[in-house]
Amino acid sequence: MIKTLVLPIKAVKFPTTKFEGSNQLQYKERKMELNITRPDDWHLHLRDGELLEAVVPHSATHFGRGIVMPNLKPPVTTTAAAVAYRESILKALPSGSGFTPLMTLYLTDTTSPKEIKLARKSGVVFAVKLYPAGATTNSQDGVTDLFGKCLPVLEEMVEQNMPLLVHGEVTDPDVDVFDRENVFIDSVLQPLIKRLPQLKVVMEHITTMDAVKFVQSCEEGSVAATVTPQHLLLNRNALFQGGLQPHNYCLPVLKREIHRQALVSAVTSGSKRFFLGTDSAPHEKRRKECPCGCAGIYSAPVALSLYAKVFEEAGAIDKLEAFTSFNGPDFYGLPRNTSKTKLSRTSWKVPECFSFPFGDIIPMFAGEMLEWQSSSN
Ligand code: DOR
Ligand code: ZN
Repeated sequence: MIKTLVLPIKAVKFPTTKFEGSNQLQYKERKMELNITRPDDWHLHLRDGELLEAVVPHSATHFGRGIVMPNLKPPVTTTAAAVAYRESILKALPSGSGFTPLMTLYLTDTTSPKEIKLARKSGVVFAVKLYPAGATTNSQDGVTDLFGKCLPVLEEMVEQNMPLLVHGEVTDPDVDVFDRENVFIDSVLQPLIKRLPQLKVVMEHITTMDAVKFVQSCEEGSVAATVTPQHLLLNRNALFQGGLQPHNYCLPVLKREIHRQALVSAVTSGSKRFFLGTDSAPHEKRRKECPCGCAGIYSAPVALSLYAKVFEEAGAIDKLEAFTSFNGPDFYGLPRNTSKTKLSRTSWKVPECFSFPFGDIIPMFAGEMLEWQSSSN
């Protein structure tokens, strides 16, 4: 029996032929196209120097704006440093690129409320990032005393309507690495929103069912979450399948399948509380494939294709555009993009590696075939 495929999204071109096989609707001719508002990336690591020059074109190809993480060496702790970093990103962009970097400050125990005022006034800083000290890459200068030393800064952030972006993991070595997000919610996030209910909080790169429930329990518009492609597509088996897989290692680490499923349900539900944040985090191959390899997955070249895959497989392609292009700017109080991105259902092979004079970078899903391709128009 031929079924009619109805995708309730405007600008969809329907596949010309389709057939049913093994209970799954398949497209015989893969000609489907989506024309969506240009997506933004609300969690992005662009690095600096030659690595920045190497990776920024990928983000600029697929995204209109990116919230740029401040965990450089040294970290971006002042508005002046954020302004300078922004300049170097703009300089590294391919000519004609309309990509807009949205800068963030790295919160420390000594950040001053005055710095938050400066940040707001600058017009280029859009959020402050909380790294619990020692939680992840370049987090050694992060926060050790959120409810003490940082409280005046958090209060100023409420005044300035400046969002706090949270790496939501405790760093206590006695807490199992798979439980660190969960414990953070109970010991830090719940008390934080109780103390400062007006503070806008984004729980970054959520990985668990518990985080989904927490975000859903908060006031809409006050607390939201970004979700990465890896946490939507992979569970923790992917770290060990056929041997240790360093290119699937990120922080927070991949979790059990039930958690992955909870994330997929959350993002495909149509809820405004969840939006796209790739956490694309490039490291040179030799820094991944070594003892004590770095955490971080380089997803910028493939992220949009992968999100489309997740939504299509969940039968929710009509919800993709809100997740990629509406929920983020709406939460941040920024205008949605006006330009468009075309996503076509055309198979392509992810490069095995991107090679640069300084070394190689391995992308997520290297060498694999993907079904969706994106291009700006
Ligand atoms: O896997 C990660 N890599 N998680 C983070 O929180 C930081 C990031 C990086 O900067 O490499
Ligand atoms: Zn990150």
